[in-house]
Amino acid sequence: MCGIIGYVGARPCKELVLKGLEHLEYRGYDSAGMVLVSDAGLDRARAVGPVKALRAVSDAVSATATVGMGHTRWATHGLVEERNAHPFLSEDSRFGVLMNGIFENYIELRAEVTAAGHTLSSDTDTEALVHLLEDEYDGDLAETVRRLYPRLEGHFAFLVVCRDEPDRIIGARLAWPPLVVGRGDGETFLASFTPAFLEETRSIQIVEEGEIVIATADNVEFRAVTDGSVREHPIEQADESLEVAAKGGYETFMLKEIHEQPTAIADTIAERFHHGELHLDGIGLTDDELRAMNRVLIVGCGTALHAGLVGRYLIEEWGGVATEADVASEWRYRNGVFDPKTLVIAISQSGETADTLAAMQIARERGARVVAVTNIMGSAVARAADGVLYTRAGLEIGVAASKTFTSQVTLMTLLALHLGAVRGNLTTQQVAEIGNELRSLPDLVQRVLDDKAMDAQLDMLADRFCHDRFFLYLGRHLGLPICQEGALKLKEISYIPTDAYAAGEMKHGPIALLGDDTPVVAVATDSHVFEKMASNLEEVRARGAHVIAVGTEGNTAIAQHAEHVLYVPRTRPELQPILAVLPLQMLAYKIAGRLGLDVDRPRNLAKTVTVE
Ligand code: G6P
Repeated sequence: MCGIIGYVGARPCKELVLKGLEHLEYRGYDSAGMVLVSDAGLDRARAVGPVKALRAVSDAVSATATVGMGHTRWATHGLVEERNAHPFLSEDSRFGVLMNGIFENYIELRAEVTAAGHTLSSDTDTEALVHLLEDEYDGDLAETVRRLYPRLEGHFAFLVVCRDEPDRIIGARLAWPPLVVGRGDGETFLASFTPAFLEETRSIQIVEEGEIVIATADNVEFRAVTDGSVREHPIEQADESLEVAAKGGYETFMLKEIHEQPTAIADTIAERFHHGELHLDGIGLTDDELRAMNRVLIVGCGTALHAGLVGRYLIEEWGGVATEADVASEWRYRNGVFDPKTLVIAISQSGETADTLAAMQIARERGARVVAVTNIMGSAVARAADGVLYTRAGLEIGVAASKTFTSQVTLMTLLALHLGAVRGNLTTQQVAEIGNELRSLPDLVQRVLDDKAMDAQLDMLADRFCHDRFFLYLGRHLGLPICQEGALKLKEISYIPTDAYAAGEMKHGPIALLGDDTPVVAVATDSHVFEKMASNLEEVRARGAHVIAVGTEGNTAIAQHAEHVLYVPRTRPELQPILAVLPLQMLAYKIAGRLGLDVDRPRNLAKTVTVE
């Protein structure tokens, strides 16, 4: 979940490295650092905090160096302190190293280099590598890295430079942390993610796992770590949709992304209907195979899991197949029972989440068929699946997911609809009707986002409740995952403790938390559980707590059970989640704003989680 960038070429590269890091900052922002290969040797700058802190100290490094690399950190081993910021240099400043990932055998590696007489300057796992290089170097950096590689356990993508070979950067990859090469005219980039260099070149090559890459200005060579044999990779053109995002007039990325939801949902739907008919090209399973499935398991983490939980209800409802959804990091350690009739759906916005990937791998080993739902083309998750369904949300920079969530829910809705159709649970006419309603959803989402009265109401609620110490979110059925997502948004960006509970379960515990200082956010849109929700809200009000309900336009009955009602447009209950989540996203956003917090970069979080 760290971000790495490297440049080898003819241009002074300090600014290219800094700009690359700015595009990678969503991956981590505990500290940032860079090392440039100058005539005088290796020049390093590091700073705690975001890339702008590094920029502020970057006068210290060469303005003319044309080879360099940078790192933005999400701390795993060692506190957020400058001494733990990458890159790390050998004691003689001959070698420089930075890494995204983890050396799992770092205790042994650190002990080994310490025993060899090195003094470690950090508490990180990465630093051990720079000392191993120092000891093992034989005049060929690439081959030294290849020799050391089998001693490194874990998952990583790292870059190294050496003063004695100033024209190159060597990279290596094990398991899922990504490493992509950008090929320019007489210059080469290496990065965790293409947007880091997309303004400079769109021609890319992927470093595969188990490979070493040797990058010079004019040449890139890929070698298998096993025997050093040279591997060829085609040069591809980066996907246009990876365009580097700018805030486009919005005060934050998150607000921009909330407002991009109509387009993201519409784009996700658009490619799935040809002449009004639903197609799930890319799913990787034939209709016969889908008909034969007797179980569905959905795995994901964070927001992706919440989208999966919405999908669970819909697949059971329309697809008529037993469906379960679980946290990837938990599921992977269960002794899950599988056969080829189990369909596993793995949801991951970034396509890199370590636990989701591991769950997919286990499922495939045990014979299940796996379909990935992701926003990133060619990502690890996409490549590890039998089939891939892409959300078309565009790049999401804000760490708290918004448009990727509603796009994932949209895709799960399409998938459930498809299963309903092929399994004969829905008639052609029902599929067409639901499809039509789904296609009108982006307009309804736009209406909610343009609703000035709701915006003013949300401002009022944010002012009134932003200093409260705890928020409880309550929902039933499809409203429950929306509450979980709303509660996650608020805790992620405002740091206010929240809990999300099945409303019927409230009486078994959370009710003890209620008092006249507790805001309770409820999703109570029209559905078959509306009356049950209304009763639960009465139980809440009887304890003096303040109910903020999301209701359906036209159903004023909810107003008798809530102090404040945020009305969203009417659509069929199965499609309501996409509308109901919008006021919850905005409420969280406005509360965090009242508290003066950085919503795009909440503390301790990262957008991409490549550690387990
Ligand atoms: C992190 C992000 C969340 C995201 C989760 C899963 O926690 O901050 O926004 O939902 O990872 O990420 P994925 O990329 O697999 O959807």
